[in-house]
Amino acid sequence: MSTFSKDFLWGGAVAAHQLEGGWQAGGKGVSLADVMTAGDNETPREITDGIIPGKNYPNHEAIDFYGHYKDDVKLFAELGLKCFRTSIAWTRIFPNGDEDEPNEAGLKFYDDLFDELLKYNIEPVITLSHFEMPYHLVTEYGGWRNRKLIDFFVKFAKVVFKRYQNKVKYWMTFNEINNQTGLNKWGLFTNSGILVQPDEDAEKVMYQAGHYEAVASALAVQIGHQINPKFQIGCMLAMGPTYAATTSPKDAMKAERAMQANYWFGDVQCKGRYPGWLKRYFERKNFDLDITLEDLDVIKAGTVDYIGFSYYASHVIKADDNEPEDYMTPLHNHEVKNPALERSDWGWEIDPVGLRYSMNWFSDRYDLPLFIVENGFGAFDKKDENGQIHDDYRMDYLRRHIEQMKLAVDVDGVDLMGYTPWGFIDLVSAGTGQMDKRYGMIYVDKNDAGEGTLKRGKKDSFAWYHQVIESNGENL
Ligand code: BG6
Repeated sequence: MSTFSKDFLWGGAVAAHQLEGGWQAGGKGVSLADVMTAGDNETPREITDGIIPGKNYPNHEAIDFYGHYKDDVKLFAELGLKCFRTSIAWTRIFPNGDEDEPNEAGLKFYDDLFDELLKYNIEPVITLSHFEMPYHLVTEYGGWRNRKLIDFFVKFAKVVFKRYQNKVKYWMTFNEINNQTGLNKWGLFTNSGILVQPDEDAEKVMYQAGHYEAVASALAVQIGHQINPKFQIGCMLAMGPTYAATTSPKDAMKAERAMQANYWFGDVQCKGRYPGWLKRYFERKNFDLDITLEDLDVIKAGTVDYIGFSYYASHVIKADDNEPEDYMTPLHNHEVKNPALERSDWGWEIDPVGLRYSMNWFSDRYDLPLFIVENGFGAFDKKDENGQIHDDYRMDYLRRHIEQMKLAVDVDGVDLMGYTPWGFIDLVSAGTGQMDKRYGMIYVDKNDAGEGTLKRGKKDSFAWYHQVIESNGENL
């Protein structure tokens, strides 16, 4: 008997801005991904002040899924996908974010895409906001610093929930909403459209923006359920468990704090309330945030149906004796390398057991079904003399993670809805803007400089994943 139920959602995951291209097609507005240049492992992506001619903005064309989606979906069906996770580019529906009426051409694109998927019995799994909010909301409103963003987001959510209520059942509100707890520039910008100003306290700004997003997410959950009670609406958290560096209790406490600081979003979205430590922390820091009693009621009434999460790597942390007692963020301060693990070319720890650990952790803490909506191995792929890519390293990574996933279900009794490996078709990296950081089972001919024919091809992992799905995870 197979570990997974017969309706287990085997799939693949992408995000609109990382594959669609067509950045101005059909009346689409400029998103924040459109003002981010290409970087690499050493060079961070630049966030430019609007579009600057001559700069390389990889998301403008991406892999032109906008122009290729019919052929691509056919290939997804051949791969055997039961579901396809993508996002709806907010800027196709509301180009600036603050219009009264949605853009029909944008709505039509997703109607056509969902119809194409459903034609092959591929279930769409949709993220509402995946690092691609309208840039106009950044320049005119200051991003999620501003309470008005709640209304704009809710309007967007309502329009797409209504329009696609008979085509889409599985939704998520904000992608990796907790990335911003690291307080780095990329995380705050991609999550919340925030560039911290010299007179601002990054931590306070993050908590305020995060609160507005939590309210917007809770309202969307309630509205979605009113529109179609069958909707399953999840949160989406970036999971990277933090382990203690040594057996010292101080390191254990530090690791626990890092987890608390990273997963307060989970507490708010899954339990419907702020954790005690955070309320005390806000008081001690005199943050004086705009959190109303009405907001707290909304949060309570808008808890999610499931936990969508990404898992790539784990972290290790070490306490610092000079640190103040109430130290909470940023999370990755005092992170150390894990000597027990190997790393990818981008320095990401490879830790399959960490996935099982994470599934147990989420399950115990929130008692909700889980959906692994991202997992994968970014690597440089090389073609052999026949133009084939033998990506054993990718199959090995995925196999080892699926094995742990099975243990979590079989032995630990975790309720798992599905698994969608990230970037199963090569796309633009969110972190570096590269094309050559590849996760795909489907190769796309385009390189970091933006050159290539965009032709699609199958890597060895294509046939392997096909057989995994066909055997419902038995044949790894
Ligand atoms: C997650 C994001 O952070 O990880 C994706 O949800 C992203 O958008 C993925 O692409 C992998 O990260 P990267 O930086 O390798 O693209």
